[in-house]
Amino acid sequence: MTDDYAIAADLYDYVVPYANRPDVAFYVDAAREAAGPVLEIGCGTGRVLIPTARAGVEIAGLDASPEMLAVCRTRLSVEPPEIQSRATLVHGDMRTFDLGRRFALATIPFRPFQHLLTVEDQLACLQSIHRHLTPDGRLVLDLFNPSIDLLANHPLGVESGHEPEFTAPDGRRVNRCYRTVAQDRFNQIGSHELIYDVTHPDGRQERLVHAFPLRYLFRYEAEHLLARAGFTVEHLYSDYSRSPYGAHYPGELIFVARLQ
Ligand SMILES: C[S@@+](CC[C@H](N)C(=O)[O-])C[C@H]1O[C@@H](n2cnc3c(N)ncnc32)[C@H](O)[C@@H]1O
Repeated sequence: MTDDYAIAADLYDYVVPYANRPDVAFYVDAAREAAGPVLEIGCGTGRVLIPTARAGVEIAGLDASPEMLAVCRTRLSVEPPEIQSRATLVHGDMRTFDLGRRFALATIPFRPFQHLLTVEDQLACLQSIHRHLTPDGRLVLDLFNPSIDLLANHPLGVESGHEPEFTAPDGRRVNRCYRTVAQDRFNQIGSHELIYDVTHPDGRQERLVHAFPLRYLFRYEAEHLLARAGFTVEHLYSDYSRSPYGAHYPGELIFVARLQ
């Protein structure tokens, strides 16, 4: 499996919309409410995992990217020992992992599930999670709600969504934007690029491109998948304040599901 996140793993935590993403309190609250340990699938650099461990909850993070996990490990290493002791990191694939234990809550924050491009892979992931939950366990599945307008009208190949500039600790100044280069409407897969225009402290300029495909899922499709994998949907939220689905469009698709 290729590590497409490696190209900008060391910049991830400084990207302004990621640093300001309003989901951390939602996940920390869910972890506190779960009476037991948490499994975070696609934990990346620990954006959610570290605040969860700080909140006093035991959490295991699984990720397929050695580079993202390395950033997470470095961040954890400067935390107090009792916080470090609550977090475990595992290199693995969300479709095939076996940790040999069960959790009260599994989460997939910020859409890692959408990196899975086939129904077979999606079911393999949900079934792997199912095997890791206690009988009363819950899964939080976090997807974006595809905007019909953007799907129909967003121009391909055009750089857009320019974000505020940020400066990494090593002095690199970074301007980021994205472009969608293709839309496979038959398989619901967009080919996207996150473009990092980097100015080094010595003035040298460099463009880093994180290219990846992403599959979008519609609400009922996700519900059917969850049912096929043995889950019942308990809640469906459209944002991290737990507004109900339908409160605004397109919003997020945040499922809370329990075992059937
Ligand atoms: C958008 S990042 C989200 C990271 C973190 N959850 C957060 O909220 O900041 C997606 C993460 O999913 C991971 N990922 C992608 N495919 C994966 C797979 N098949 N198995 C495990 N992790 C995967 C990537 O390596 C990356 O760290």
